[in-house]
Amino acid sequence: MAAADSRPADLLAIEDIHTYYGDSYVLQGLSLRVASGTIVALLGRNGMGKTTLIRSVAGLTPPRRGRITFRGSDVVGLPPYRIAQLGVALVPQGRRTFPSLTVRENLQMPQSTLAGLGGRTGPGGRGRAERWSLSEVVREFPQIGDRLGQRARNLSGGEQQMLAIGRALMANPDLILMDEPSEGLAPVIVQQLGAIMRRLRSQGHSILLVEQNVGLAMEVADYVYVIATGRVTCAGTPAELDAQPDLMARHLGIER
Ligand SMILES: Nc1ncnc2c1ncn2[C@@H]1O[C@H](COP(=O)(O)OP(=O)(O)OP(=O)(O)O)[C@@H](O)[C@H]1O
Ligand SMILES: [Mg+2]
Repeated sequence: MAAADSRPADLLAIEDIHTYYGDSYVLQGLSLRVASGTIVALLGRNGMGKTTLIRSVAGLTPPRRGRITFRGSDVVGLPPYRIAQLGVALVPQGRRTFPSLTVRENLQMPQSTLAGLGGRTGPGGRGRAERWSLSEVVREFPQIGDRLGQRARNLSGGEQQMLAIGRALMANPDLILMDEPSEGLAPVIVQQLGAIMRRLRSQGHSILLVEQNVGLAMEVADYVYVIATGRVTCAGTPAELDAQPDLMARHLGIER
């Protein structure tokens, strides 16, 4: 855990958050940080609160207690569109593309929505060169570029995941929240996904990656948190965690 304090400045800082669904107490004092330009992975078994953490950051299920700061500004209590305008994009679990819309319409959705709400705001927002346009997303994901006129429902699982990531990029985020992007994908597509995440990091994006695929997370992440019942149970660089296989086995129920 010593490495935690020597990491570069935080883009996202989550401090002791407590998040509920009604009376159901899910995140029970969770803290984590995402340094600028890094990939941070969040591992945990089913139902441990990974999606709830993503929802807490995106403003969909705000915590009742605790702080979440993005580039130093408090975001708890802001509506989701405001958090998106600050530069946080979500690639939701299960992709959630719009099946009856075309690939092009899916990609254009965030830009038209954000434009209607006044565009990106804050540092790095309006006025900076907007990096991602339809043609740049198509260049990054040629598979979906060939299918812009088709309905999203006709894409394969891998293509739908590329579309979900492309759609998030169209909002020009600094931080991309990815909730189990490898779920249900063939190993060769998971490898492609890893390469995409590394490329996005090299282009200056930061990623908070929720995964059940421990291999993928350990391969791409700069730092890893393991959560159980709404709390961080262990954390470290992939190398630090690899050096303690018994710890990983205990917290994730897996052998590495
Ligand atoms: N909308 C909701 N209302 C009530 N309880 C919920 C709701 N969504 C999730 N929960 C509960 O909160 C807990 C954490 O769920 P969450 O979806 O965050 O887990 P997860 O780690 O993302 O799991 P998975 O790996 O299956 O996606 C679970 O016990 C779940 O049943
Ligand atoms: Mg989940």
